[in-house]
Amino acid sequence: MQFQYEKEKVLIVDFGSQVTKLIARRIRELGVFSEIITPKELIKIKDYHSIKGFILSGGPSTVTNSRFQSVPKAIFEKKIPVLGICYGLQLIAKLFGGKIKSSKKRREFGRAFLFKKKSSLLTKKYLITKRSVWMSHQDAVVKLPKNFKSIASTQNSKLTIIEHSKKKIYGVQFHPEVTHTDNGKQIFKNFLFLICKIKKKWNISSQKKKLIKKIKNRVKKDKVICALSGGVDSSVAALLINKAIKKNLICVMVDTGLMRKNEFNYSYKIFKKKYRLNVKLINASSLFLSKLKNISNPEKKRKIIGNLFIKIFEKEAKNHKNLKFLAQGTLYPDVIESRSSTGSKTSKIKSHHNVGGLPKRMNLKLIEPLKDFFKDEVRILGKSLGLVNQINYKHPFPGPGLGIRIVGNITKERIKILQEADNIFISELVKSGLYSKIWQAYAALLPIKTVGVMGDSRTYENICLLRAVTSEDGMTADYFSFPKNFIDNISNKIINNVKGINRVVYDITSKPPSTIELE
Ligand code: XMP
Repeated sequence: MQFQYEKEKVLIVDFGSQVTKLIARRIRELGVFSEIITPKELIKIKDYHSIKGFILSGGPSTVTNSRFQSVPKAIFEKKIPVLGICYGLQLIAKLFGGKIKSSKKRREFGRAFLFKKKSSLLTKKYLITKRSVWMSHQDAVVKLPKNFKSIASTQNSKLTIIEHSKKKIYGVQFHPEVTHTDNGKQIFKNFLFLICKIKKKWNISSQKKKLIKKIKNRVKKDKVICALSGGVDSSVAALLINKAIKKNLICVMVDTGLMRKNEFNYSYKIFKKKYRLNVKLINASSLFLSKLKNISNPEKKRKIIGNLFIKIFEKEAKNHKNLKFLAQGTLYPDVIESRSSTGSKTSKIKSHHNVGGLPKRMNLKLIEPLKDFFKDEVRILGKSLGLVNQINYKHPFPGPGLGIRIVGNITKERIKILQEADNIFISELVKSGLYSKIWQAYAALLPIKTVGVMGDSRTYENICLLRAVTSEDGMTADYFSFPKNFIDNISNKIINNVKGINRVVYDITSKPPSTIELE
């Protein structure tokens, strides 16, 4: 656990729910530090004095089985308030002698309505008579444990909110952390400020000084190397480390030739001139292009790009003495996913390119200053470090870049065509104010040509596909609904200005079943 120095925190015990991350986000948004731990990590805790509250998450397990994921009952005796959500509520009920049943009659998925039965600190200013909540459960508590009260019900489940006010133990069957639950934030507010009595103190900007100090103390006089892509995460990580160790940070920018139009030069200038970072630029575009010649298989492309990148980076690293660390912009969601409570790994859909294989090969220690933060928190940090908006609020961009947005063979000409079309799309999004409403947008080239008519002549040219999605973390996504005149205008502009494209299509699939990228 990273934030041992936080004076007050809430620990979220993760039982494997898809939305546990959202609990941590909601609490941090309210100005309180929260951390997600596994049930195993909970058992190892020795010092409880900075823990002001526990939240037990939802999860796929069921207490109706003889073996179920649990917490030691001793945590309820520490005078620390506990809130159980979904599986967390069922676990509390089970541990205190209640009865839980799995039944089709009681299961609820999606919207349900909550009715008040008794007043409670947990539902103050939240439940006057009725509220719309989001449910996802098959099991339900059917008999209250001793000394617990029922606070609210839905039509299908009578014991939807329960409490043991003396011991400050609470449980809710619905998910207050998801936006489909009406005003779920109030439940967290009441738990944190009325029940746990925590003070609102934590904010991301106040972490900056602590992070810089930590990096200084760890690196001392050694050197750190960082692959700087110009994306939000590596940029914020580099600025932060630069504040701590200045010239001992070596940033390497590898120009693969697969970036958006003008983007590489823009980022290089900003980091070199505005922030005065120690940046080494390596132009490898011809090398990438030659290795990718006639390769159309997406996985092969990803492997070639990833491996080339590693080779170039390794070669550069050999030029520096006292190089002991590799900096990476890993974020909190990656950390949580890599140590899931159930130990299950989601099946591999694509091999993501990042510099993951590097530290072992190069015998370097990792520095990941952002590994405790969510993307939106990283942006707050970026802002407080003076990172320009153009980089700080940039959409995510995949490591293999345009290489996986040119479906089929990659050639210099196709890169140029795509860069032009993509630049029109993104510039119009920025101009119209839609850019910030969209999580990720891009243009891609499909590997087929179609017939068109321009003037009085027949054309036989490329298809440009546009994709724009809304999302919270890239795990799921919805396509964005553009006003008709906007999408008409984009289509016109691309056809009129980009030679080589005679058809524009818009991707209207969500994720799942599609992914955000095409390859
Ligand atoms: P998919 O296509 O899997 O993408 O729905 C989810 C998010 O991940 C990004 N992405 C990558 N990011 N290296 C990265 O750093 C990669 O190899 C990579 N592939 C996809 C994608 O742009 C989206 O934001």
